[in-house]
Amino acid sequence: MLVRVDFNVPLENGEVADDTRIRAALPTLELLLERGASEAVLASHLGRPKGEDPSLSLEPVRRRLRQLLDDTRLRLLENLRFNPGETANDVGFARDLADDCDLYVNDAFGAAHRAHASTEAVAHLLPAYAGLLLERELEELGGLLETPARPFVAVLGGAKVEDKIGVVESLAARADTLLVGGKMAEELRQRVGENGNHSQIVLPTDVVVAAAFEADAEAKVVSSEGVPDGWLGLDIGPQTRTAFAERIADARTVFWNGPMGVFEWPRFAEGTKAVAVAVAGADAHTVVGGGDSVRAVEELGVADRIDWISTGGGAALELLEGKELPGVAAIPQD
Ligand code: 3PG
Repeated sequence: MLVRVDFNVPLENGEVADDTRIRAALPTLELLLERGASEAVLASHLGRPKGEDPSLSLEPVRRRLRQLLDDTRLRLLENLRFNPGETANDVGFARDLADDCDLYVNDAFGAAHRAHASTEAVAHLLPAYAGLLLERELEELGGLLETPARPFVAVLGGAKVEDKIGVVESLAARADTLLVGGKMAEELRQRVGENGNHSQIVLPTDVVVAAAFEADAEAKVVSSEGVPDGWLGLDIGPQTRTAFAERIADARTVFWNGPMGVFEWPRFAEGTKAVAVAVAGADAHTVVGGGDSVRAVEELGVADRIDWISTGGGAALELLEGKELPGVAAIPQD
């Protein structure tokens, strides 16, 4: 069988720096092997190479996979995006992938928002099924949109404002409270000001500002209204941390995506840490997605207290925006 996995993982010094996505695919691979697959051809992209870029070879992933699940029936193809046919959703390339395979299993939730040859075109060439990870992701994230236990509190942060406006609107309509931190809070403050009537959106009341975008820059806490000219908001302030933690503690469902500040610099990590601890401690069904938020709960040692850690970044956001994911739509429902 042909199995589309999302092994688009961070590399450091030629080794896999975070194997979460590889481990997340193991239950599906183990099931296929247990049920007698004679060979499972695994296909993934890694990064966004322009042509064949050796620094984005899947070789380090192959080594890590072998440490986690060593079975001669598993064969990992080289980075799909080395072939321009992949992102072009080219049927010819999809045919090459499908060649000699009897079934197609898509377990690459993280790439399901891409209409690419390995996620879309190929699903029309072989009997196509969702893998266990893809299925669970759809249940968990889809469940947030359908019947969340209330109060449903969503927490959004991060820097990529434009990427998240759609999800802000969707969650503002569905959640009881939407807590917004990080860089996107500033832009949203202007938008909310213009449109009014977004009573469920809660923005920071205080921020940690820095004189420069540097880890050791001079920093102080100011009210959100009083950011001095030229200073940069790099974290939510202590008052906001407490307010956000209180809302999270009252929730029955929590979704969190995106850091509250520049989490990789310890002096601006407190807001993100406060949210991570509050989400882990909530007596609620908790779902966390997005690289930095997942890293935060892992570094703080609270990941096992989160009900579902999504492997999807962009895919999770598009799903929560209410968009159809091409990789999911291509799989027959019955
Ligand atoms: C991700 O990491 O979000 C997925 O693997 C998709 O990667 P892409 O944004 O390069 O398509």
